[in-house]
Amino acid sequence: MIAPTLLSLALFFSCFEMSTAIGSLGINVASSDSTGTCRTTDSWNEALQKAASYFSTIKTYAVSDCDMLANIAPALNENTGVKVWMGIWEVDDAHYAAEKAALSTYLPTISKDSVAGFSVGSEALYRGDLTPSALADKINDIRSLISDISDKDGNSYSGTKVGTVDSWNLWVNGTNAPAIEASDYVMINAFPFWQYQTAANQSHSLVDDVMQALKSIQSIKGDDDFYVSIGETGAPTGGYALTTDQAPNTVDNAESLFQEGICTLLAYGIDVNMFELQDEPTKALATADDGTTSDVERHWGVYDTDYSLKYSLSCDY
Ligand SMILES: *[C@@H]1O[C@H](CO)[C@@H](O)[C@H](O)[C@H]1NC(C)=O
Ligand SMILES: *[C@@H]1O[C@H](CO)[C@@H](O)[C@H](O)[C@H]1NC(C)=O
Repeated sequence: MIAPTLLSLALFFSCFEMSTAIGSLGINVASSDSTGTCRTTDSWNEALQKAASYFSTIKTYAVSDCDMLANIAPALNENTGVKVWMGIWEVDDAHYAAEKAALSTYLPTISKDSVAGFSVGSEALYRGDLTPSALADKINDIRSLISDISDKDGNSYSGTKVGTVDSWNLWVNGTNAPAIEASDYVMINAFPFWQYQTAANQSHSLVDDVMQALKSIQSIKGDDDFYVSIGETGAPTGGYALTTDQAPNTVDNAESLFQEGICTLLAYGIDVNMFELQDEPTKALATADDGTTSDVERHWGVYDTDYSLKYSLSCDY
């Protein structure tokens, strides 16, 4: 199933100047631990150490939720090998103000070398939380905020990338161009599971979705060195499936998606942030587009709750 995908991807990428290096892996980390408790500095320390074994970046969602930036800051100063994509939750004014206050208070306590970039919104367009131009305004607002903040060594955050993350189909839709235009980078989320893909087709679907989003983003940003990566992907290893013929929620299947799909993207020099570091057994039930609910959101960790790795994260090439 993978052969036609590789061929079409090769033809596609020949049109753009892509990095010749293999892409690097990152991992999404929730602000709560696997018991549903807000991560303390000790818990962030452990998460950063466990992440560092396989990932060069971690990706977070909201700097003020669970006092995320306050609590991770001392841990980042001890674990200098991993950079953070800082998520900024943008939805309501009070929450957004709290996010900005957390940035102003705690960015001066860490090194700018610990920050990979600032992601304004996570699937905000998918949920319809903001119009594309309202999201663009917030991206510009955060860029302006961070350029007035210096890190613990007196270096300005000015120049650190500010962008956004959304589902692949939102980037294919030209209506969302203003958010891309305002961004220094864009991340693409793509989950074969939420598209009810079979085991046989899941990697084809992943690479095809990413390819469509990349093509659309490149048509807006041109073929310069605009950074595009995968914000979230992966497969669950447990919980109820949405349909009977979709890929099974097993460790073997998640490993197949990793080897066939994620490793293919990495081979083309695309950085991939997997979803997510640990299982979250207390997470709320998930609702699919068709209204079906499932406990599947609790089973996406590459590690289980005891930090036991579920399958190998090294590509067989
Ligand atoms: C594109 O996005 C707009 C606004 O978000 C939405 O109204 C429209 O239905 C989308 N079009 C497609 C084809 O998904
Ligand atoms: C496989 O994935 C491709 C790309 O997303 C899609 O166009 C196709 O319909 C899928 N095939 C099946 C049998 O679901």
